[in-house]
Amino acid sequence: MSFSLQLSHAAPASVDSPLLAIVLPQDPSLDDALRAVDTPLAGAIQRSIARRDFRGGRDETMLFVGGDSGAQRVLLVGRGSAPLTRAVARRASAIAARQAGKLGTGAMHLVLPGADADAIEGVALGAAAGSWAYPDLQTQPPEKERRARLQSVTVLGGDTDAVRAGFAAGAAVAEGQAIAKRLGMMPGNVCTPETFVEVGREIAARHGMTITVLGRAEMELEKMGSFLCVAQGTPEEPRLVALEYRGGAPDQQPVVLIGKGLCFDTGGISIKPAPEMEWMKFDMSGAGGVMGAMEAIGRLRLPINVVGIIGATTNMPSGTAVKPGDVVRASNGKTIEIINTDAEGRLVLADLLVFAKRFNPALAIDAATLTGAVVIGLGAHAVGVFGADKAAVDEVLAAGSAAGEPGWPLPLWDEYKEQIKSDVADLKNSGGRAAGSITAALFLQEFVDGYPWVHLDVAGTAYSQVDLGWIPKGPTGTPVGTFVEIVRARARR
Ligand code: BES
Ligand code: MN
Ligand code: ZN
Repeated sequence: MSFSLQLSHAAPASVDSPLLAIVLPQDPSLDDALRAVDTPLAGAIQRSIARRDFRGGRDETMLFVGGDSGAQRVLLVGRGSAPLTRAVARRASAIAARQAGKLGTGAMHLVLPGADADAIEGVALGAAAGSWAYPDLQTQPPEKERRARLQSVTVLGGDTDAVRAGFAAGAAVAEGQAIAKRLGMMPGNVCTPETFVEVGREIAARHGMTITVLGRAEMELEKMGSFLCVAQGTPEEPRLVALEYRGGAPDQQPVVLIGKGLCFDTGGISIKPAPEMEWMKFDMSGAGGVMGAMEAIGRLRLPINVVGIIGATTNMPSGTAVKPGDVVRASNGKTIEIINTDAEGRLVLADLLVFAKRFNPALAIDAATLTGAVVIGLGAHAVGVFGADKAAVDEVLAAGSAAGEPGWPLPLWDEYKEQIKSDVADLKNSGGRAAGSITAALFLQEFVDGYPWVHLDVAGTAYSQVDLGWIPKGPTGTPVGTFVEIVRARARR
């Protein structure tokens, strides 16, 4: 069952629809186009606004039942008093789509008066996000969900090139996010490192990208002892996948996107406690984000070079697993004392960051569900952003906030480096509990050589263990929007 999202410049009063959703600001007034929708409802919308039953507050909804032609139902959705940004439009549109899903109307028309190209992009994103689901493994949907899935959303919007472009961008990012979210939702026995190879091959074939796949043997030749020590406890073949999109001049240095792909993280010998361990299927969200971003970039045919690199494996305790105290050597020659086998993401990323150098990056950005500490520090509402290159960090922060995936910077001061000094090796893989997200980022920095780099810790933002109102608990699509926004902004300049 495929989801279809389209743009139409029909007037709201002229559409035949099982559900017309109208997104309105705080204390709204109706323009002529909306008054025409209200006429067959005998002015019920106007009255509900005048009586202040509907006030347009954020996430507020009100449903009107229409007749058998035209708009058979009208749903008002409030977007509050905040300025109309892409994220505001996304949230309200997602609420509309979720409501349509609950009603089981199957199709919906959606209008956001006053939407510019950027807001229309948010409408497309939200409509897709609010109707996203992962039904693959359920033969019997729960009782409350035995209604038609929302399969078709028609966005009513202005007929300009800018609006069409904004809509197309939103639809492309939504497709990328759907890939990332699906990979995230897939259990560890379904999404394996090989799944990243399969999805990577599909994306490469669809958009004419080059794909490179490394397994254990190839990584041994590359001397990726850091990545490989994580993979030595699992019989699954670890995979490094690199996708090269060449939309720019042949000599243009690429933007390189790098993702942590732990298909499951048990912690290894330093095993995690049982409660909530099942959420560690989402420990591949950085890699899922890279795959989703490459899909969106391919769809948008952006005139720029981009490389996506993911490292996929599973962190398992076993007779062959790496142990605390073991020393391994990464592909740049640096030695690492393993203090805690649960600090495995940085071990995978270390060799990916060394590998990235061969592409001569203009900018490299990695995304990883790297630390529990960033969940404690920033929670679900900010990505942890790290980097020594201020211009690059500012660029990523701006992209994140435009994309509705805001980040917040944390320092990489030398003082913290004491915590990852080892008595036997060049580095320790854990700096302990204090400033855990910072010491993890400082560890990564040891493997960055000669290119601007920004690290995104998405452990608190790539998925949510609670319903966020506009999307249900589960994967959020972060950091696809940020990645694509950075690349789009660079493609424009
Ligand atoms: N994948 C986890 C980080 C994580 C924790 C993501 C909670 C999402 C929610 C990572 O591999 C990990 O286990 N990090 C350890 C590092 C520590 C042992 C230094 C952590 O954060 O506890
Ligand atoms: Mn871990
Ligand atoms: Zn992990």
